[in-house]
Amino acid sequence: MSAVVVVGTQWGDEGKGKVVDVLTEKADYVVRFQGGNNAGHTLVINKKKHILHLVPSGVFREHTTCVIGNGVVVDPEVLIGEIEELKKEGIKVGPDKLLISEKAHTIMPYHKALDMARENKAKGRKIGTTCRGIGPCYEDKVARKGFRLVELTYPDHFKEKLRVVLEEKNFILKYLDAEPLNFDEIYEKYVEYGKYLKEYLTDVSLALWNAKRQGKNILFEGAQGTFLDIDHGTYPYVTSSNTVAGNACCGVGLGPKEIDMVLGIVKAYTTRVGEGPFPTELKDEMGEFLRERGGEFGATTGRPRRCGWLDLVLVKTAVRLSGINAIAITKLDVLSGLDSIKLCVGYETNGKRLESIPAAFWELGNVTPVYEEFKGWKEDLSSVKSFEELPQGAKDYLKFIEEYLGVPIYMISTGPERENYLLLKEPFSA
Ligand code: IMP
Repeated sequence: MSAVVVVGTQWGDEGKGKVVDVLTEKADYVVRFQGGNNAGHTLVINKKKHILHLVPSGVFREHTTCVIGNGVVVDPEVLIGEIEELKKEGIKVGPDKLLISEKAHTIMPYHKALDMARENKAKGRKIGTTCRGIGPCYEDKVARKGFRLVELTYPDHFKEKLRVVLEEKNFILKYLDAEPLNFDEIYEKYVEYGKYLKEYLTDVSLALWNAKRQGKNILFEGAQGTFLDIDHGTYPYVTSSNTVAGNACCGVGLGPKEIDMVLGIVKAYTTRVGEGPFPTELKDEMGEFLRERGGEFGATTGRPRRCGWLDLVLVKTAVRLSGINAIAITKLDVLSGLDSIKLCVGYETNGKRLESIPAAFWELGNVTPVYEEFKGWKEDLSSVKSFEELPQGAKDYLKFIEEYLGVPIYMISTGPERENYLLLKEPFSA
């Protein structure tokens, strides 16, 4: 019936996986459209923790078809590993359950080696990437030196092109003081990956076009967050794809008219992994409290996340950048027990209020956040069944967010378990 795009409004790790998992109950298709295995969704189902990096979260629902769009960069080793792991757990992940775009680009071993070698050599100018080869893979796509997944299924073509590409990559790796890579090893491995994945490869654009016309519900699952967007994020401390909702169209091959609704995910506080400016960062015991209570350690790399108060200047900008119609608030329970909670409602620099986010990262790093302070609450939220049952402090906090952003809250996550949430309005029927 409708197509809903879910995007992160901060620097990723907003808890999109949990929201997507809840919404998949109504979704016939769950689609990834950008990023790669730099993302990691943690889902807790029946007290068991599952971390997915490439396969969309809908895989745990029997009725959903999972889709990996052309905008995703795929590390075949990781994807195959994930499929096999899921199969071991008794979850069906055949080609009727998982559709992969033939046009999605392949992360090659030299992409990972380059990512790592550059970070190692960067010294004071590290990006803090996940070292999964994401950036170098997108670079090759744009430079027209990449491999679409379909190319792995044509061994002769693949061999010829790989020889040329690898020669250049080994030259660069040597310059970066890294070991060159062996042609035969890559060739043999990737031809095998091609054989494994062949039955999954398809025209995703056509499949989704048909699905929409058959009245199916489609859920687009954004990875990372708005301020890691290659164009609109805190450049250069960003990822290498567009993370905003508009890219859901390019990343699968559908037009903007096919999207009916955009749901922005807002964590009740802010986190960031890797380098880059973060105006509301707390480097004191409050930051430590949020990290420990919220379990803020990277799902992909295990790195401790930097933590701070919720920055509504960022989120309001995300509402504009993605055309967000409604939001879901995640991890509200993490704030329980605090005497007071702060919300950033503006930035100042040299005593002047800023109208928009500075594009030069060092300027954003120098702003002074303007805060509103709220009274906290002590109650545990996990068993709350309606908005009215929430403690007054939480209600005030949420009402202020809604009014500041000018968009309604559709969902509130109140604990890590699958059932700990309040669904105020269902996005597919909105
Ligand atoms: P890359 O995407 O590995 O190139 O990393 C670029 C930046 O994006 C680094 O700061 C990473 O920590 C960050 N990043 C990439 N993926 C995620 C994610 O899923 N969550 C949070 N940060 C991410």
